[in-house]
Amino acid sequence: MKKMTFSQVRESWLNFFKSKNHLIIESQSLIPKNDNSLLWINSGVATLKKYFSGVETPPAFRLTNSQRCIRTNDISNVGVTSRHHTFFEMLGNFSIGDYFRKEAIEMAFEYLTKVLEFDVNKLYFTVFEDDKESYDLWIKLGIIKSHIIKCKKDRNFWEIGQGPCGPCTEIYYDRGEKYDFDKIGEKLFFEDIENDRYIEIWNIVFSEFENDGKNNYTPLARKNIDTGAGLERLACVMQDVNTNYDTDVFVYVRNIMEKYTEYKYDSNLYFERNKDSIKILINKAFSVIIDHFKSCIFAISDGAIPSNKDRGYIIRKLLRVSFINMDILKLKDSSINFIIDAIIDTMKDFYPYLLKEKTKLYEVFKNEYQVHHNSLSKSIKQFIELTNNEKIDEKQLFTLVDTYGFPLEIIKELEIHKDINAVNFILEAILNKFNYKMKSIKKLELDFELFNQFFEEHREISKSSNNNVSGLDRQTKNLINLDVVSKFDYNAFDIKQSKVVKIFDQDFNIVEEIKNSPGYIVLDNTCFYATSGGQVNDVGVIKNSLIDNVIKSPNGQHIHHFECGTFTLGELVDGKIDVNRRNILSAHHSTEHLLHSALKRKIDNSIKQEGALKSPEKVTFDFHYHKKLDIDSIKLLENDIKEIINKNQNSELFEVTLEEAQKLGALAYFEEVYKKIKGKLRVIKLGDYSIEICGGTHVKKTSDIEDFKIIKLDSKGSGTWRIEAIATKKLINDFDRTIKKQTLDDIKKFISDYHSIDLKDQEFEKLIDKNFDNMHFIELKQYYDLIKNALNVIKYKFEKTNQENIILNLKNNLKSYNELVNYVKLENIDRKILMQTLTNLVNENRNSIYLIINFIDNNYQYFLCGNDEFIKLKNLNLQQFANLVNSSLNGKGGGRFNFVQGNFNESSIEKIDSLFNKIMGELK
Ligand code: ALA
Repeated sequence: MKKMTFSQVRESWLNFFKSKNHLIIESQSLIPKNDNSLLWINSGVATLKKYFSGVETPPAFRLTNSQRCIRTNDISNVGVTSRHHTFFEMLGNFSIGDYFRKEAIEMAFEYLTKVLEFDVNKLYFTVFEDDKESYDLWIKLGIIKSHIIKCKKDRNFWEIGQGPCGPCTEIYYDRGEKYDFDKIGEKLFFEDIENDRYIEIWNIVFSEFENDGKNNYTPLARKNIDTGAGLERLACVMQDVNTNYDTDVFVYVRNIMEKYTEYKYDSNLYFERNKDSIKILINKAFSVIIDHFKSCIFAISDGAIPSNKDRGYIIRKLLRVSFINMDILKLKDSSINFIIDAIIDTMKDFYPYLLKEKTKLYEVFKNEYQVHHNSLSKSIKQFIELTNNEKIDEKQLFTLVDTYGFPLEIIKELEIHKDINAVNFILEAILNKFNYKMKSIKKLELDFELFNQFFEEHREISKSSNNNVSGLDRQTKNLINLDVVSKFDYNAFDIKQSKVVKIFDQDFNIVEEIKNSPGYIVLDNTCFYATSGGQVNDVGVIKNSLIDNVIKSPNGQHIHHFECGTFTLGELVDGKIDVNRRNILSAHHSTEHLLHSALKRKIDNSIKQEGALKSPEKVTFDFHYHKKLDIDSIKLLENDIKEIINKNQNSELFEVTLEEAQKLGALAYFEEVYKKIKGKLRVIKLGDYSIEICGGTHVKKTSDIEDFKIIKLDSKGSGTWRIEAIATKKLINDFDRTIKKQTLDDIKKFISDYHSIDLKDQEFEKLIDKNFDNMHFIELKQYYDLIKNALNVIKYKFEKTNQENIILNLKNNLKSYNELVNYVKLENIDRKILMQTLTNLVNENRNSIYLIINFIDNNYQYFLCGNDEFIKLKNLNLQQFANLVNSSLNGKGGGRFNFVQGNFNESSIEKIDSLFNKIMGELK
């Protein structure tokens, strides 16, 4: 294999595809244009979507690029694994309706084996299980069968939400035993185990479908090729270095960084078995800084700026993490500009515009550093006081972050490095900057789970309180310092003569009274449940005012919100909650406990709740499990719960201490939280089936749940699943009458649509020859998706045959005006088909110009098009003819020098003919 630098790999790729008639497309801005589906450009194809879907005509039908990309989903792996980055470049070659499978595979093979001189025996391949053609093509090129694996959709179907997608074939390279620490061998590749030996270097996507963002797939107007090869990975393989971070571009920047710090990056650490935690920390810090700086340099140059929202927030976060890592390496802020310079040095040949951005970059980085430093200096003293305590109080730490702006990123950094030496190292490094000393910590007595939970609860407050509690308001001390006594009565649905003990206006200012305005009240006694523990709040009426939201303050009081109310401090008020809604909420909460227990009893005892929402509409339950539950398991769970409902078991409440609750065998995963609560804990026992510590509301007996139905099972990624279910007869009837009925009707409609198409398909007929009326809804939904997609394919085939006929007809009617110009006049032909035909025509015959006039909807459309190189050669500019049509025929239109289109509304045929004769006459 050849040895190449990072830049050489990029150059060789672009040159190779140029030699195969691909047009080189410049790397585009990281900020997507006219595309709200992406925060960042995250793949080579992302900027070319418009060409793939036919919305715009591409400048050529074969394209190649090296596209800058940002992906932040793997941010926590940066510097930890060998290959993760937030910034990377993706090399690609693309065909838009031009070549397909065969050429794409042959070109990839030629490039790898002839240009880069890869050893064929070290290449491995995945293909989509139904894609026999790709399999055969690899075999034909001499790949041995045992190096190809057929995979399912989860490994060999490429898509990123909305946009072009399709089955794919991946190419892997075997870097050898050296990188196979446990000597596992090929199994690593076959079983897709995370490893450093078999590296995926290239993905070739046969892009045939358009995903509308909701997983509805429609076939694309033409078949395209989209490929992606990570430049950093390819460079790593070709330089035979341990990790991407050991390739030339990273080493260059690191060498410069090392001039400003006493620490050194240790490349040999990679092969050490028991790695020293401080060395890991140091290596990681170097990599994180370079990677994150790179993302920010490119993103800011492309126009993004740090802020608290969306893209801006990501940049702010990346910079903060970098600054903390700079502290770890004792790199002063004065080195920021040198690091920026070094990174730009490595990229400037391909991205010369970066040089012009330097001043702006220095400034933005400096400002952000200052903001970060200021919030740190304001809160660091309190932070030391907290850490000097035996045990850090999570709630105080949370307030420090939320109210005083202590950087959350530092806590996250501590969370990653559980090792106590690393923790001390980080803390010391940060404190050193402020000339503070701290006692070395023996054990980090910080319960991250609890800390994160404060955060979650806080987020819940802000989410659930219909726009009333904005980020800024949340920081208000009034809420944090609220100390009035306010009791919640679990057993009451109404309150009589409760005292108003606190009033806030809409912005949480404390007031004595409120008149016909929005605001919040706290009562000494309430029966309104506040959103907590995943159960949504009650709504109802207090003294003629509608209570639309109830939130829990940090100290536990229930705070009632109204849009319009009149209250005076100290007055006594009556109120009542919406009892029906509460009953459903209680039914959903009890259902959640039963589902928890059923999953443990019927599926796997180790399953535990990872999050659950109990709303008036549904209950959701999240859990980890190594595989998807099949339909039989779903039915098993459902029947088990229905049985318990029918058994009419009592629910019992115990108010006990934590020790007593444990003796009872109650499930409690957030023990630390419960320990914090003063007084007794509530333990809910549902018959003989479930016993859990819980602060929510529940049914009195299981029959109050009435009925139960699972309506959805979703993957949340990384082995986490979410079950969605509903309880009570009313909700289930409503569901059957609306959603289920609609699904059934849609399926029937798909079937009748099929019968109305003049095309028979045996597979489809087999599919619809099923009794689906009594399917479980989850099965029904899968069946619906299957039929819908299959029907789309049939419709596509049908349309395609239709289109092919139209195209054939169109081509037969083409007349030649002179040697150069062919033209045709048509009526009522779909614009898309015309565009496609034109593309074909220009491709087939690059030395002709085509003119099409199409009369449709009482209007004339025209298209004038030729091959770009040919038009250039002829020194023509078709735009000039569009101008002529616009002015002479009262038309609208334009385009590019080699392709113009437009319409006009002229009734005199003579005038039209004479103008187009003139135009054709001038095209010589
Ligand atoms: N678009 C494909 C990918 O990103 C090639 O893997």
